[in-house]
Amino acid sequence: MRAYLHSVPEPILTINGVTKDYPAVRAVNDLSLAINRGEAHGLIGENGAGKSTLMKMLSGLERPTAGSITFEGQPLELRSAADAMKRGIAMIHQELNLIGELSVADNIFLGRERTTLGLVDRGSAETAALKLLNQLGSNISPRTRVNRLSIADQQLVEIAKALSCEARLLIMDEPTAVLSERETNALFRVVNQLRLHRGVTIIYISHILPEVRRLCDRITVLRDGQYVKTVEPREVDDADLARLMVGRDLGELFPQRAAHLPDTVLEVRNFFVDGWVRGAGFELHRGEILGLAGLVGSGRTEFAEAIAGVRRRRSGSVSIIGEPADIRRPADAIAHRLAYVSEDRKLRGLHLDLSITENTTLANLRAYGFPLLKAAARRASAQEHARRLGTRCATVQQRVSSLSGGNQQKVALAKWLDTKPNVLILDEPTRGVDIGAKQEIYGLIHQLAAEGRSIVMISSEMPELIGLCHRILVMRNGRIVGALPGERATEADIMHLAAGLRENRVA
Ligand SMILES: Nc1ncnc2c1ncn2[C@@H]1O[C@H](COP(=O)(O)OP(=O)(O)OP(=O)(O)O)[C@@H](O)[C@H]1O
Ligand SMILES: [Mg+2]
Repeated sequence: MRAYLHSVPEPILTINGVTKDYPAVRAVNDLSLAINRGEAHGLIGENGAGKSTLMKMLSGLERPTAGSITFEGQPLELRSAADAMKRGIAMIHQELNLIGELSVADNIFLGRERTTLGLVDRGSAETAALKLLNQLGSNISPRTRVNRLSIADQQLVEIAKALSCEARLLIMDEPTAVLSERETNALFRVVNQLRLHRGVTIIYISHILPEVRRLCDRITVLRDGQYVKTVEPREVDDADLARLMVGRDLGELFPQRAAHLPDTVLEVRNFFVDGWVRGAGFELHRGEILGLAGLVGSGRTEFAEAIAGVRRRRSGSVSIIGEPADIRRPADAIAHRLAYVSEDRKLRGLHLDLSITENTTLANLRAYGFPLLKAAARRASAQEHARRLGTRCATVQQRVSSLSGGNQQKVALAKWLDTKPNVLILDEPTRGVDIGAKQEIYGLIHQLAAEGRSIVMISSEMPELIGLCHRILVMRNGRIVGALPGERATEADIMHLAAGLRENRVA
């Protein structure tokens, strides 16, 4: 195999003054950039900076309003994603694009079915799929239905699909947002292998800056649809990158920790959820920010869903301010002023075809005079939340589907804040959110706690738990296996508990 590492940089892709206008916004503004053959090129910028839009123009999903693109020396004029694949460009989307009911092999060769004498040749597709998956070091069976796979495995199927069309440019839009650390490491191994042994060029979008610096040879920063700068990882740290993204010094990421009150607001006892939670409970105090750490699969989300009445529990009791609260359905949770903001904004949190206003006020329609809804009041609330969260939109009447990924996340948060909850359970609230918006969300959580609301925060980003929480509970195999004081906890402490290397059992 040939290693491409030391070859002289030579552009494989040149973007010349490209602009993309949507009806209300210029998403990409007169942008020029050259990507070298065989490099891993990071693309970073705030939510709504135009990263995904630029990539959609490279993969045939959008057409530039102005400007031109050259790929491998030829003009790139694409009408569809299939066109892009024919030219050797594949994109793995922010929200994966597979068909759950079809098998792995069918997904890999979708639209390009292998035929023998006019008949679809399943066997040969499965053999070819198996070979591709093996090359990626995966042992998924090509016959498995995709909706039975973990997200990490689904991503590998997307990569196999890209390989199957001999992609020479692979675009990955926030691929690790839903992966565990181990899965992320495995993905990076695959990416490096593609790059070093096959000369595949990678464009890599992520909000997790240390990962971008680890994986990429060069990093380009976009702001407001415009090119800001291209840097090499060794000449910058995270704070430098953040400054380039946001255009100003961010300062302290976390607000000063303030003390919470001693009274118990929420008491959760002895929860059991089939297959997930095996006797978990905790107490939450007024104004407290309580972190819930653990590995992917430890049962954190299922536990939270059961508390909020989204998921059935076998047993367990909840009391709120000393009174038993029988929460069996989401409506019960709203009635008890307990809100759960799901980690999966696409499936449970948001209605993408409705506007920001409609989504923001959806869980709280009674407050707006349901069934005769007061439109102006709804709009005013939506505007207030958007302002507080820094949601980037043209107007609050805009459909949520036209927002960038991170801004959709903010609307999901606004929807539950609008119910004025006393207890707020946030599941990965900053996933896919840029660093400036993270800082805003931390400030907001802090402010809500200072107003006397109590917060449970599930997160896989240990620095944010350590930076923000009064206390951190660690969950493993459906149980709470440890409790750490926020200001003294270290990532190593959390990891040891989460992986079962140390026990510090608490109630
Ligand atoms: N289909 C669309 N219609 C109208 N506006 C759109 C559409 N898609 C994107 N936009 C707007 O274009 C801008 C750039 O969005 P884009 O999705 O490219 O951002 P991004 O950098 O990928 O952000 P994120 O980090 O949140 O994913 C945003 O202002 C967004 O609201
Ligand atoms: Mg995006």
